[in-house]
Amino acid sequence: MPQHSPAAVIVLAAGAGTRMKSATPKVMHPIAGRSLLHHAISAAAGTGPEHLVVVLRHAREQVAEHLESISGSIDRSVLVADQDDVPGTGRAAECALTQLPEDIGGTVVVTYGDVPLLTTDTLLALVEHHESHTNAVTVLSANVANPTGYGRIVRDAQGGLERIVEEKDADDAVKRLTEINSGIYAFDARVLRSALAEVSTDNAQGEKYLTDVIGIARGAGSRVAALTTDDVWQVEGANDRVQLAQLGRELNRRIVEAHMRAGVTVVDPETTWIDADVVIAPDVTILPGVQLHGACDIAADAVIGPDSTLSDTEVGAGATISRTHGSLSVIGAGATVGPFAYLRPGTELGAQAKIGTFVETKNAQIGDGTKVPHLTYVGDATIGEQSNIGASSVFVNYDGVNKNRTTIGSYVKTGSDTMFIAPVTVGDGAYSGAGTVIREDVPAGALAITEGRQRNIEGWVEAKRPGTPAARAAQMAAGTADADPATDSAGPNRPGSSTDEADSAEKES
Ligand code: UD1
Ligand code: CA
Repeated sequence: MPQHSPAAVIVLAAGAGTRMKSATPKVMHPIAGRSLLHHAISAAAGTGPEHLVVVLRHAREQVAEHLESISGSIDRSVLVADQDDVPGTGRAAECALTQLPEDIGGTVVVTYGDVPLLTTDTLLALVEHHESHTNAVTVLSANVANPTGYGRIVRDAQGGLERIVEEKDADDAVKRLTEINSGIYAFDARVLRSALAEVSTDNAQGEKYLTDVIGIARGAGSRVAALTTDDVWQVEGANDRVQLAQLGRELNRRIVEAHMRAGVTVVDPETTWIDADVVIAPDVTILPGVQLHGACDIAADAVIGPDSTLSDTEVGAGATISRTHGSLSVIGAGATVGPFAYLRPGTELGAQAKIGTFVETKNAQIGDGTKVPHLTYVGDATIGEQSNIGASSVFVNYDGVNKNRTTIGSYVKTGSDTMFIAPVTVGDGAYSGAGTVIREDVPAGALAITEGRQRNIEGWVEAKRPGTPAARAAQMAAGTADADPATDSAGPNRPGSSTDEADSAEKES
């Protein structure tokens, strides 16, 4: 637990967030792969408070359900307080107190659910400052170029915090002040409780202002102060989708920079997007145009990109992935994927294995050293080690009603354009000829062919497509450009042996 863990953190999230113009509650909009609320709760939880309370009202059920999943993922309990119909941040904090022990002492932090770049370190610095100066209230403030809309910090002649005035209650002199209230505070628990009981709704908005606690505490002789932060991004809320994008880009910039400082090569930070929960080992190289979403975990020396998007995917050491779209997949050490591959959920690629160009996979375990190099769909399959799937093959997994599985052994070589009509099993070391349609199991070591004998009808083009470029080409090839096609004799078919088809099929790259 950190040194200055507060007794409680209260996260205010009852507001409607109307400027988002969204059916989704504001605090559930994501940046960097987490909702605004998840970012806020993570920062709050990081301070190690004994109690963590979130105040809800707007879209209460939806947000409460979301909160449960956040609580699960950070593995700690989060209390919910419902705000009644008295509006304002002060009322919200008062409602939160009903969820805390009546005799709670020490420091209570208040923060917002829609301020996603705020860090645990900043909250801890606030608590440290608050406690070491024995303040009753410490507010986090910032100097901004455009303070419109914010509450202004009004200081006394000595530079001490006097009060906070809301934009709507401000005169012109106050409106010119550029030091704003972030809305993030550390309070002495007892002062907060007693002052809130005195706060009225007598103001321009008819709300119970949390900011009024400052004047009340000061009036009662308690010490109040403002701690200014230089990092304005950390106190900025997302009120509309323009701010959401700005905060998203800045958070991404910070995440990418942190990975670079930890030893990851990022060739083009501007076109690289990495979610907050992604784990990347040192000496990974990320080429331009890469997005890593969700719970990606990338091991050392992997090279990802250019132009690849991976979600919830594990990448083994030294693997290379180019121009690939993948989700919920596992890629083994030293494996190669792409260019132009699509890994759908449940793909597990072994070590040193290969998924090549224009290949789609889904629910497929592909063993160590096995190669699926070209133009192939592998769905619902298990393939052993060191096998090779010929170009242009399809794992025909769907019979119109059920999805069925194909099982292929190790050291198997299947010809180009093999169709595996699942459910079907191909034994170790088996081969298939090009164009084989495998409907029945193939024993180990067998060659499967479904040969439809080839028949050549000689002269067919000249007879049936006279005057076409193809017919003329045929005449030129035969050296009979002037001949009457009707007099040509059709020779007998001479189909060759097809037992060496597999050889041509197993070629790769
Ligand atoms: C508040 C501050 C203002 C500060 C600004 C920073 C007050 C009176 N004013 O402004 O000084 O500069 O934040 O952004 O505190 N909320 C509730 N219940 C409510 C009202 C708000 O939970 O009844 C929550 C909202 O969900 C949001 C946060 O409090 O997370 C701030 O609400 P908002 O209306 O954006 O801030 P203001 O009250 O305008
Ligand atoms: Ca308001």
